[in-house]
Amino acid sequence: MADNFEMEFVCRHAATKQAVEAFLAKHLCDEADPGEMARAPRLMEAMRYAVFGRGKRLRSFLTIETARMLGGSEVLALATGAGVELAHCYSLVHDDLPALDDDDMHRGKPAVHRAFDEATAILAGNALQALAFEVIADPRWQPNPAIRAELVLGLARASGPGGMIGGQLLDLSAEGRFGAADMDIDGTLRMQTMKTGMLLAFSVEAGALIGGADFHERDALQRYGRALGQAVQIADDILDRVATPEVVGKATSKDRGLKRASLADCLDFDRAQAECYRLVAICDEAVSQWNEAAAVLRQAARFAVARKA
Ligand code: IPE
Ligand code: IPE
Ligand code: MG
Ligand code: MG
Repeated sequence: MADNFEMEFVCRHAATKQAVEAFLAKHLCDEADPGEMARAPRLMEAMRYAVFGRGKRLRSFLTIETARMLGGSEVLALATGAGVELAHCYSLVHDDLPALDDDDMHRGKPAVHRAFDEATAILAGNALQALAFEVIADPRWQPNPAIRAELVLGLARASGPGGMIGGQLLDLSAEGRFGAADMDIDGTLRMQTMKTGMLLAFSVEAGALIGGADFHERDALQRYGRALGQAVQIADDILDRVATPEVVGKATSKDRGLKRASLADCLDFDRAQAECYRLVAICDEAVSQWNEAAAVLRQAARFAVARKA
């Protein structure tokens, strides 16, 4: 039986997903925005294909819920959350490319490079990344220039060479593509924090900024975001081991087959699962000062590790 907190989480998650998707749909239409020359219909079609479908919208949910918990504007947080989703979708499109993970399926449908072609997938990914920054830097959605600058800086850091893209390179290195490689647990954790954790942690940090968190509150929310980011990637690795492609909507058992660095392989399954719950406990502790107001964030951590897809 679902308790009240769980019900509240489910309702808020569904409502946020709808609002974020409506915002994204507006920004991914074929009509050019003022200040643009024109939009190429094929590019827009590929971008929409990449963004819409089975995405859980966890990152935007975290931005919006963190801002809401602190009394910040949900309307302002919506645009930033949508921007983080655009950056995340770009990362998935490029991650699936033949030169990277060479995956044919994602979110239960052919990957963008299979549904369209490789060149279109590369360009759609590039355009999603640019649009992510555009949405986050748009004064219509964030009138405070100092917060805007911090958000842009934060997204750049989380997704750049010292974050997601650096982590992606380390992930490929761990497969032995660029010479012999043997990644230990610490190396695997660092790589995972970079490739997945930093963007996830940024989504919480963005909510903290929009909600006007003070230094101590930001510190606590950083702890929450970092622990949650690690838990999400370990849960993803566990699903790669135990779930079926039909349920997760993408190929599974890839990590083992390709000797990818995965914590579900470094540790055994039970220890990987236990690590997820240790990280959930860190999330709980990090937001304890907000008591009941943090119930949705606590549930979000549980959702991230207990999800089946
Ligand atoms: C999947 O992330 C890939 C990782 C970075 C671990 P999600 O599980 O959040 O993917 P969607 O957005 O719901 O499809
Ligand atoms: C995805 O990591 C991380 C990024 C896209 C940055 P994986 O390659 O492990 O995830 P899936 O299983 O393909 O979604
Ligand atoms: Mg990958
Ligand atoms: Mg992949």
